Amino acid sequence: MGSVHLIEHPLIQHKLSIIRDVGTGPKEFRELVEEIATLMAYEVTRDFPLEEIEIQTPIAKAKAKVISGKKIAIVPILRAGLVMADGIMKLIPAAKMGHIGLYRDPNTLRPVEYYCKLPNDLQDRDLIVVDPMLATGGSASAAIDFLKKRGATKTIKLVCLIAAPEGVARIQQEHPEVEVFVAAIDDYLDNHGYIIPGLGDAGDRLFGTK
Ligand code: PRP
Ligand code: URA
Repeated sequence: MGSVHLIEHPLIQHKLSIIRDVGTGPKEFRELVEEIATLMAYEVTRDFPLEEIEIQTPIAKAKAKVISGKKIAIVPILRAGLVMADGIMKLIPAAKMGHIGLYRDPNTLRPVEYYCKLPNDLQDRDLIVVDPMLATGGSASAAIDFLKKRGATKTIKLVCLIAAPEGVARIQQEHPEVEVFVAAIDDYLDNHGYIIPGLGDAGDRLFGTK
């Protein structure tokens, strides 16, 4: 079964509590989602390999460690994943970005694709898929399916802020090789597929559309 990393760092938990609050408006919500994603990137990149190079400090020659030629693509699921992707790009500025447009049909709760643009060298890149909410897991699972169909061969990590147990289980079942990183696993999904307690509709809260 794929591993699930629950990131319980106090800064992340504190900021998560603020974005859960119904009184937090879109500006602060966006800023905090971006910040939390940056903080999560620290854990997501923990296994990046290092290599030793020689450098010259102002005083002496020294051996120093740098990340070893890792090619990454960050893939936000539109639209709510966009702000998280910006937060992760801050730490991995050389990464490329691919976009997968999906929305969840409110009646069937099934994902509907409307856009997909990925780097040409997708097969050479380790992929980090980002979306704040992992509810039924349908959108994230479909996004990972697209990536595999379009040639992804290297590692795929999924980074979400809040998950429902149902969503985590689905990814583990349908994509057992994918590592999942979340800041919280909440209680359950309601009849409309919303995570309880969750934070409401992430896209609407990010972009002020409701
Ligand atoms: C939200 C969220 C995920 C999806 C999660 O997006 O950002 O993509 O729902 O639900 P699931 O796990 O049950 O598939 P939404 O469909 O509301 O689209 P939006 O980002 O355009 O608002
Ligand atoms: N999508 C959201 O934005 N929020 C949820 O709780 C579930 C799906």
